[in-house]
Amino acid sequence: MIYTIPSFHNPAGVSQGAQRRLEILAIAQQARILVLEDDPYGLLGFDGEVPRAMRADDADGVIYLGSFSKTIASGLRVGWAVAPHGVREKLVLAAESAVLCPSNFAQLTISEYLATQPWRQQIKVFRELYRERRDALLDSLQAMMPEGTTWTIPAGGFYSWLTLPNGLDATAMLPRAIAALVAYVPGTGFYVDGQGRQNLRLSYCYPEPDRIREGVRRLAAVVEGELELANTFGTTSGLHAAEGSSVPAPDLR
Ligand SMILES: Cc1ncc(COP(=O)(O)O)c(C=O)c1O
Repeated sequence: MIYTIPSFHNPAGVSQGAQRRLEILAIAQQARILVLEDDPYGLLGFDGEVPRAMRADDADGVIYLGSFSKTIASGLRVGWAVAPHGVREKLVLAAESAVLCPSNFAQLTISEYLATQPWRQQIKVFRELYRERRDALLDSLQAMMPEGTTWTIPAGGFYSWLTLPNGLDATAMLPRAIAALVAYVPGTGFYVDGQGRQNLRLSYCYPEPDRIREGVRRLAAVVEGELELANTFGTTSGLHAAEGSSVPAPDLR
């Protein structure tokens, strides 16, 4: 099976173009494997266009997963799957054996909301809200991040994927960032093999623009500090904490 998040990827903040989607479908068809299209952010594009789902081009080869977590309420944890018949039956069996029945209360709450509330309008409001926060993030990264730092420009969703200047290590830097009261998810959390040390995920979905700007200001200062260390010692990997420890060193307030 090919697992993919084609629209507004978590954590990369990028999307697959229409042509690439078709190419992936063709590869999967040729190899006779299913595609799992995970699409919790598809409705949250900033240009208002909802990207064409891969499933729309291959109903038999794609399992589509949607979620209300990003558009209505994350706490309810209700989503949906659109799957070929045989897969759907197995999914129902698997769900029954795992949780017996997803919360009826949560499902009825979503059902009532969809039936009685202007949810399409609400999604438009969310798009504007997240676009404003995305812009606050990108503008302040542009203004404050030291040279050599790069990041993706998301056209929707919640995340940008940042690459630190050469020699810096996002995992080793995290305790200093937390001490400066700014947090991120180190890139290694998204790989199984230790890649991603130079990367980190920034999420702009929750904080308001002012706090995003302040967060970037603090993060930029931490990166500057790391760069000074790297310029002195060559790298910052392993400089801060002992292997296995992820708490700030005692000198950090
Ligand atoms: C790519 C992706 N899939 C699924 C989920 C979770 O969705 P749900 O809350 O419906 O389980 C998330 C949320 O963080 C996500 O980023």
